[in-house]
Amino acid sequence: MKNKITRPHVLIMSEMTVDGKLTLWKGASSKILMQFMDPETEVLLHKTRAEYDAIMVGSNTIRIDNSNLTVRLVEGKNPIRVIPNRNADIPLDSNVLGPAAKTVIAVSEAAPPERVEALRKKGVDVLVAGKSDIDYPLLMTLLYEHYQIKKLMVEGGPTLNYFMLKNGLVDEIRLIHLPFIVGGADTPSLVGGMHINSVDEMFHLSLKNHYMCGKNLITEYDILY
Ligand SMILES: NC(=O)c1ccc[n+]([C@@H]2O[C@H](COP(=O)([O-])OP(=O)(O)OC[C@H]3O[C@@H](n4cnc5c(N)ncnc54)[C@H](OP(=O)(O)O)[C@@H]3O)[C@@H](O)[C@H]2O)c1
Repeated sequence: MKNKITRPHVLIMSEMTVDGKLTLWKGASSKILMQFMDPETEVLLHKTRAEYDAIMVGSNTIRIDNSNLTVRLVEGKNPIRVIPNRNADIPLDSNVLGPAAKTVIAVSEAAPPERVEALRKKGVDVLVAGKSDIDYPLLMTLLYEHYQIKKLMVEGGPTLNYFMLKNGLVDEIRLIHLPFIVGGADTPSLVGGMHINSVDEMFHLSLKNHYMCGKNLITEYDILY
């Protein structure tokens, strides 16, 4: 009998230029690009956050964007903020460690205990999920079972998007298309990580919806694993 899947339903939501880039250049905050998002689309993003139990972004996005990951433009509750961070080394003054919403930092068993303690002192939960790297399938199960997270929204960056897809943990992708081209061979795009080695490794998607939100095209895909 097939095991019952105990993991959240996962949506990757991202804004992206016509050339598939998530920011202007490597190391630039995506907040610069987000300024050009239609106000109606910003509301859609916050409305989506409010519909989800949790929101997850990578530790590098925290370092570069210093994201708040809260719902500010619509009425609604803040989702739990989840940050995978093997070595518990995100800056202690990160906005995500503030009291605006509950935060869970996922670390590995190898994280230095003094850093884990420093995070706990900030009032956040620290969850161990993996030996030396984050074990994403295990993290999903822990979030589902310990925090009752049934719906998880992932807001990048590209490295985190890659690990989630590679582990077969993504159900849907919703893209906010920004009518710009920024170029740059090393400018982060929707999915980073390692390239594939054969056509068999491509991720297949099915477009299920597309519509305009203000000036932005929105596309919605199911992932076909
Ligand atoms: N346009 C958008 O919607 C959008 C959204 C978000 C971000 N961004 C942009 O994306 C850029 C940052 O993206 P990024 O790809 O550099 O970083 P990222 O995806 O934000 O962070 C990398 C994540 O992958 C984890 N990771 C790395 N290696 C791993 C491994 N071997 N096993 C398990 N986990 C591992 C890291 O954990 P560790 O802490 O353990 O290394 C970290 O949590 C920024 O410029 C930001 O502005 C754009």
